[in-house]
Amino acid sequence: MKKSPSLEGSVSIVTGARGVIGGGIARELAAAGSDVVLQMGRDPHGSVDATGQTREHPLVREISGMGRRAVPVNCDVTNPQQVAAMVEEAVETFGRLDVLVNNAGVVSLCPVEEMSEAEWDRVMDVNVKGMFLCSRAAIPHLRRSSAGTIINNASVASFGGAAGMAHYCASKHATIGFTKTLALELARDDVTVNAICPGIVDTPMWSEVLTPDPAAYRETIKRVIPLGRDQTPEDMGRLAVFLASSRNLTGEAIRVDGGMTTSV
Ligand SMILES: NC(=O)c1ccc[n+]([C@@H]2O[C@H](COP(=O)([O-])OP(=O)(O)OC[C@H]3O[C@@H](n4cnc5c(N)ncnc54)[C@H](O)[C@@H]3O)[C@@H](O)[C@H]2O)c1
Repeated sequence: MKKSPSLEGSVSIVTGARGVIGGGIARELAAAGSDVVLQMGRDPHGSVDATGQTREHPLVREISGMGRRAVPVNCDVTNPQQVAAMVEEAVETFGRLDVLVNNAGVVSLCPVEEMSEAEWDRVMDVNVKGMFLCSRAAIPHLRRSSAGTIINNASVASFGGAAGMAHYCASKHATIGFTKTLALELARDDVTVNAICPGIVDTPMWSEVLTPDPAAYRETIKRVIPLGRDQTPEDMGRLAVFLASSRNLTGEAIRVDGGMTTSV
């Protein structure tokens, strides 16, 4: 029987790892053998308990339990200095970098006519500029890897429009353009660049921002997804492992959406 893909000995950075999908991706990369730098946002090391002690973040404990190293870092992906420091910390700690997963992202619901410039900028800054800054900082190190790869978290919103989400859709269309272009720029260096396009995953993005009502969420799933179920963080993590271990796949945007956009 063929062995499952191995990332043994590799080092990955996952942005937005405190989030649901980012956590799923980090877990699957670690299960495949990668040590992981987890970009956690505020309070990277855990939370302060009743006695004032800082507890280790559960994801760090979980990955350590798999026998892999997990290093949490605090970084705003829109800040070039913090991004450079995150990449340097990864390379100083592990001596190499093989996989960058640009997963951090934000969304909100607002028609264009009512949207402030600040809200437009917030979404474009995290979803597009953050991906650019992290990629730019990682490229010199990925070039030195024998299996360098960048995986960008796009969306089914990369392929169509969604009323009330012009900023998000614009940012996710941009993610695909960036992915394809960077794939061409880095092909000679044998660094691959691909995008994951999730359908609907039950995360705060849905439960708090898009459809706060659980019944409406379930109804949406049934109505728009041909397979009749939502997608999972594990789905995205397994695809990330597949992409990170596929040396002849680059410039692709792969949908994991239960058939939701098959006709688009
Ligand atoms: N949930 C879905 O159905 C869905 C569908 C398609 C695409 N996506 C994409 O998946 C990715 C992860 O989203 P999620 O659903 O897990 O949401 P989430 O809210 O659970 O995670 C988003 C993460 O991004 C981080 N983040 C936000 N701004 C940041 C900044 N400036 N610097 C660093 N980190 C920052 C947050 O701290 C959080 O950890 C996003 O790019 C999102 O667009 C999600």
